[in-house]
Amino acid sequence: MSKTPVRVAVTGAAGQIGYALLFRIASGEMLGKDQPVILQLLEIPDEKAQNALKGVMMELQDCAFPLLAGMEAHSDPMTAFKDAQYVLLVGARPRGPGMERADLLAANAQIFTAQGKALNAVADRNVKVLVVGNPANTNAYIAMKSAPDLPAKNFTAMLRLDHNRAASQIAEKTGKPVSAIEKLAVWGNHSPTMYADYRFATIDGQSVKDMINDEEWNRNTFLPTVGKRGAAIIEARGLSSAASAANAAIDHMRDWALGTNGKWVTMGIPSKGWYGIPEGVMFGFPVTCENGEYTVVEGLPIDEFSQQCINKTLDELKGEEDGVKHLL
Ligand code: NAD
Ligand code: LMR
Repeated sequence: MSKTPVRVAVTGAAGQIGYALLFRIASGEMLGKDQPVILQLLEIPDEKAQNALKGVMMELQDCAFPLLAGMEAHSDPMTAFKDAQYVLLVGARPRGPGMERADLLAANAQIFTAQGKALNAVADRNVKVLVVGNPANTNAYIAMKSAPDLPAKNFTAMLRLDHNRAASQIAEKTGKPVSAIEKLAVWGNHSPTMYADYRFATIDGQSVKDMINDEEWNRNTFLPTVGKRGAAIIEARGLSSAASAANAAIDHMRDWALGTNGKWVTMGIPSKGWYGIPEGVMFGFPVTCENGEYTVVEGLPIDEFSQQCINKTLDELKGEEDGVKHLL
């Protein structure tokens, strides 16, 4: 017997990540090849954006996806999030000319406060939320704080792109397949301060740190390459990463919903005090997932350099969260 369709809401649905994401959700790559989905798509009320959304929906229809059980266009989060079980908050205000970081935070605080409140009011009580729109950790924090009736643990931010980028750099350096890399972690903020950490990583049971054995490469090549990859893509493409961001969003939600079989992945989640990160800070941690729940990998030793890196990304995040607290 076929499964009951689940409701998946996506914001910024007519944007570039939306275009790389929706077709994969509808084809079953996110929630499984036996799981029908209803797409509830949100765009700003602007006529151009709504028309573009209609075009994307025509294309979705033309794919005749067997798992696409329904599709709706919305311009109001209160209707878009109704009964939604999975929500991908992709739409965000991009930084405009002359816009300071504080202005960007404030503009996004407005969006994510309204969307958090709408989730609180109308979404499924077990909704799983992934925030992709930047600044992703702080936007996720705002949405979580605006939805006090929903479990805080169900609000997450996307660090998976950083995790995947780190894995690919290690695969290239070691000459080993990316699929063989286990136990990689990315700590902190989705920003150049994030700390990609391969001290615990293994390939076929062998230590990646020992295989690479090059601390200079770690500090001066690997970390800056992963940290500044988003900027490098913007520089090369004239547009920010879209297909790889959509792919990371699929990975994040699929692993959260369907499990990781013991494999470590990175998710931005509200801290419960793990590794000294203050409670509630939306921080990237290594986790495993099972039965729709994530569990932080605890007890990892943190050396002096790693602690410095973790402190730096934490300070940045606390600064962002302090900058929006008065708006919540
Ligand atoms: P885009 O500009 O192509 O699309 C964004 C879409 O969101 C637009 O169609 C816009 O109309 C819509 N939108 C804006 N405000 C909205 C709102 N309040 N409600 C609903 N829709 C809204 O941008 P994109 O390339 O798709 O990127 C989207 C976001 O993802 C950006 O903030 C980008 O910086 C971020 N991003 C994050 C990561 C990550 O790893 N976390 C990676 C890449 C990009
Ligand atoms: C990325 O990591 O590719 C993006 O977050 C970059 C950006 O600033 O949009």
